Amino acid sequence: MGRHFCTVTAGEPSYIHGYSENEAVRLADQADVLAELLHHDTRYAPGSLVLEAGCGIGAQTLQIAERNPEVTLVSVDLSAASLRTARGRGVAADLVRAEIAALPFRDGVFDHVFVCFVLEHLADPGGALGALGRLLRPGGTITVIEGDHGSCYYHPATDAAAAAWGALVAAQQALGGDPLIGRRLYPLVAGAGFGGVTVSLRQVYADESRPGVQDGFVQRTIVPMVEGVREQNKALGLVDPSTFEQGLADLRATGGPGGTFCYTFFRATGVGPELMVSAVPGHPPPAHSLIDGLHRPRSHGSGAVSGEVLSGLRHGRRTGRS
Ligand SMILES: C[S@@+](CC[C@H](N)C(=O)[O-])C[C@H]1O[C@@H](n2cnc3c(N)ncnc32)[C@H](O)[C@@H]1O
Repeated sequence: MGRHFCTVTAGEPSYIHGYSENEAVRLADQADVLAELLHHDTRYAPGSLVLEAGCGIGAQTLQIAERNPEVTLVSVDLSAASLRTARGRGVAADLVRAEIAALPFRDGVFDHVFVCFVLEHLADPGGALGALGRLLRPGGTITVIEGDHGSCYYHPATDAAAAAWGALVAAQQALGGDPLIGRRLYPLVAGAGFGGVTVSLRQVYADESRPGVQDGFVQRTIVPMVEGVREQNKALGLVDPSTFEQGLADLRATGGPGGTFCYTFFRATGVGPELMVSAVPGHPPPAHSLIDGLHRPRSHGSGAVSGEVLSGLRHGRRTGRS
């Protein structure tokens, strides 16, 4: 596909899509084809400090940074390999290895939080939202984008395609995730204490009059995602392997001549209420090992955050941002 990523999977956390090179390519293709649909309104005031939770290889980071060259981005992920890939791609963000439920930042330091395609993988998405909300300054905002695999319909709709798609859903559920989370986004975000929650639907539709969408979304995003659970499908005994392969072929056909494919993403925004900010000034300082060796000062782009400044963020909010 003309892209090369250096992902290393040994020792990585367990996660439905894994950390293979194919998955890295898929994430990049996905972000590219959905860029305008998901990000035409991802705009932050110049000078804002934005936390991206679960950045992976930095596919969405690049989109946010391109549209918001004057903000400071801090992007975190569990995966060291993904962060190395992100760094290699030159993303304009400070990259920090951390678990969302235990982020090494003080309460109330961020102007905005951005989360994309991450809550669906968490056993406790509401708890994660609560933890992220505490990092927002009073009046700060959150943006959450998630899919919903129940929103997917296509032509030709074969039984094998439905079975393969069902295997993807079941495999993710078996790991404690929720591939149908999009429809729950409003209650989840509002239930975590955010105010003014608004959800907008972002629908992708592909037919042969839109070859770029057929290629970028169906062939490079959807089909590889299903293909990625081939081994889990076998291990869990979900769908017999020959039906799974037929289903994959049938899904490929929905992104070709005469085929159509439709999927809906959910994009929620909300305001973190003042009450969410801890009255106690700050949590205990983080274990430095969580960041050492991964965090490096950014060497390009405007508004770069040095290691020292980031360290400062963990001990007190900077001033002077809008
Ligand atoms: C589907 S990828 C999405 C990456 C990126 N947001 C994008 O849209 O391209 C999900 C990412 O969430 C990360 N992740 C999952 N659970 C996490 C957690 N508890 N804390 C931090 N990152 C997590 C994974 O390592 C993975 O990189």
